[in-house]
Amino acid sequence: MSYFARRPMMSVTAMFLAVAVYLGSTSVVFAQADDLGKKAYERICGNCHGPLGRGGDGPPLVPMKYEFAEVLPITREGLQMMPKLSTVTISDEEIKAVVVYLKTIGAAKKAK
Ligand code: HEC
Repeated sequence: MSYFARRPMMSVTAMFLAVAVYLGSTSVVFAQADDLGKKAYERICGNCHGPLGRGGDGPPLVPMKYEFAEVLPITREGLQMMPKLSTVTISDEEIKAVVVYLKTIGAAKKAK
């Protein structure tokens, strides 16, 4: 195969891949914006704080009266019976999204 025959093929393939990767990553970003907090809450916090933050082994977290800046140290350092959770378990980004999620469902409950 000559250089001229191969070259256009490769760039079309590269372009296709670039577009596929781009589209793939934007849809992931959109999905995360929607339910990153809900997923992280249900995966980690909900085991103790109950479905929808209503309380279980841990106290209810709805209505969420704390800001991210307060929840972050509680999560990272723990609070008496609450174990500290590392960035391996939950990222800062997820904690931030959890706070937003809990405030959202808290507001929805109050509105009823
Ligand atoms: C293993 C169980 C467990 C997990 C998992 C857990 N918590 Fe807790 N959490 C507790 C307990 C128990 C307390 C009560 C601590 C105390 O005051 O003795 C608590 C307290 C808290 C408080 C303070 C509540 C208050 O009114 O003072 C916040 C905020 C909180 N947790 C947030 C979270 C978030 C966010 C997550 C998920 C990232 C999470 N917790 C995961 C058990 C847990």
